[in-house]
Amino acid sequence: MDLPFKPDLSSKTAVVTGGAGVLCSEFCSALAECGAKVAILGRTLSKCEALAEEIKAAGGEAMGVCADVTDRAAVEEAHKKVLDAYGKCDILINGAGGNKPGATSDDEFFSMDTLNDPGKKSFFDLGAGDFSDVFSLNILGTFIPTQEFARDMAEAGCGCIINISSMNAFTPLTKIPAYSAAKSGVSNFTEWLAVHFAKTGIRCNAIAPGFFSTEQNAALLWNEDGTPTARTEKILSQTPMGRFGKPEELTGAVLFLCDDNCSGFMTGVVLPIDGGFNAYSGV
Ligand SMILES: NC(=O)c1ccc[n+]([C@@H]2O[C@H](COP(=O)([O-])OP(=O)(O)OC[C@H]3O[C@@H](n4cnc5c(N)ncnc54)[C@H](O)[C@@H]3O)[C@@H](O)[C@H]2O)c1
Repeated sequence: MDLPFKPDLSSKTAVVTGGAGVLCSEFCSALAECGAKVAILGRTLSKCEALAEEIKAAGGEAMGVCADVTDRAAVEEAHKKVLDAYGKCDILINGAGGNKPGATSDDEFFSMDTLNDPGKKSFFDLGAGDFSDVFSLNILGTFIPTQEFARDMAEAGCGCIINISSMNAFTPLTKIPAYSAAKSGVSNFTEWLAVHFAKTGIRCNAIAPGFFSTEQNAALLWNEDGTPTARTEKILSQTPMGRFGKPEELTGAVLFLCDDNCSGFMTGVVLPIDGGFNAYSGV
């Protein structure tokens, strides 16, 4: 793969949760190309192992490890496997995250007409269980792996944690209250961890990706005939650069934050990578 620059991570072990996903698979490949041994942690072992095989075929070192990031026992078990195979974790990317349809309202603005309409999911129809699941995945799913893998870093007296926040952490996006609040929590937790670990040599930062057109959200963003949906038009009109990001455009920032030579005095930062979306008031 074409990397913007290549820090030497050859003595490092990296753990990437949600590592087989659209964005994090890019990070896994990039870390491996920089020499890191990469543990790809996710719920579906076959996907993690398939990516590990791809990385190995390209000359890198990687392994798939199965764990649900909200399940402490499973993450503990995964940690043991990483320790056995690669040794202590130096770099942790908390990439597992996401939203649920049951925690998403159909409309941007509440209207009384929808209150008793069985065909419309208004704010009042959102499920507490779904809301809680989104918090659990994004917040606990960051907290538990950090508690587990940062132990290695505390013992070593150095290490790097990168969390994945989102644009909706700065200003909530319509329709997705749980995901917005949870990512806001991820940003806040990033700052808290940065301060808490500041005397230990562990740095903790986050990236906040803007909008990326991937397979996952294709149906939301593009009509069947390939024309943009109304949501796409809205996103692009609010993105000063006027386009979606490409997953590989996050890689430079991730490598930069991983490398002590580049960012050794940076901790507690939530870095927007968004074509200017966060800076634009719309006027
Ligand atoms: N795609 C975007 O535009 C975008 C924008 C901002 C932030 N993000 C964030 O970036 C991260 C990666 O997103 P993505 O778009 O690549 O999504 P993705 O769905 O492709 O990747 C997420 C990965 O996490 C895994 N996962 C989900 N729940 C898990 C669990 N409980 N335990 C372990 N693994 C689990 C999934 O299997 C998947 O491989 C997420 O935190 C997401 O919230 C994405």
